[in-house]
Amino acid sequence: MLIQCGAMPLTLAVIYVMASFRFPVDYLTVAVVQGLLAALVTWKLALAGWWRAIQLLFPLAVLAALALQLPSWLFGAAFLLLLGWYWSTFRTQVPYYPSGPAVWDAVRQLLPADRAPRVIDIGSGLGGFVLYLSRVRPDAAVEGIELAPLPFLYSWLRAKLAGGRARFRLGDYEKLDFSRYDLVFAYLSPAAMPGLWRKAAAEMRPGAMLASYEFIVPERSPDRTVHATEEDVPLYIWYF
Ligand SMILES: C[S@@+](CC[C@H](N)C(=O)[O-])C[C@H]1O[C@@H](n2cnc3c(N)ncnc32)[C@H](O)[C@@H]1O
Repeated sequence: MLIQCGAMPLTLAVIYVMASFRFPVDYLTVAVVQGLLAALVTWKLALAGWWRAIQLLFPLAVLAALALQLPSWLFGAAFLLLLGWYWSTFRTQVPYYPSGPAVWDAVRQLLPADRAPRVIDIGSGLGGFVLYLSRVRPDAAVEGIELAPLPFLYSWLRAKLAGGRARFRLGDYEKLDFSRYDLVFAYLSPAAMPGLWRKAAAEMRPGAMLASYEFIVPERSPDRTVHATEEDVPLYIWYF
């Protein structure tokens, strides 16, 4: 949005010059010029390539949306929905995408059979992993923590309806004490891994495990790698 706002005075200048040369200017021309300039600024600021496409198409999307003459509350509602779903993804760089039962079962197999383990899914999304594990290991204390309100609410409701010992809380895993868990399960993103490793290395107790689906920590090679899915995406495990 800052880039779009920053491009606006440039667009006005270009449109002024075009108009003074009697070039026909309409809203479509303004949207195309604004999109091109915003994409140029994005490129100059060396943002990821896909931002250029977004910046280029954004003014045209605004024009198209205006042409649809939708009621204004719809935009507010869509904004609130997306806010609830993504929350602070712009900061964490970890959006929601789910892992699946094959991975959850591979994690289950890591757990000790002779005692009740304490497990947490950091960034529990819609709660699939936590609910699965608390179903197949009813003795385990399984928790999920989720930063985004809507996925949290959904998982919390699922846990209430399912009964059992699964627990969900709304919050930031960075504020958790990892020493309380025997296994920490993470499906995050490459951006989150260095910070996660620092926290795990500082807090996890001897004998505990960190399991990360798909994403590796650059600092230490995993102690074990499991290929549980048909797509062959690895589950990495570190022992402390
Ligand atoms: C890729 S999804 C994984 C969902 C679930 N664990 C699974 O395996 O299906 C990552 C989730 O982590 C959440 N998240 C990201 N950073 C977080 C943080 N610092 N604390 C809590 N949750 C976070 C995101 O909102 C997102 O729902």
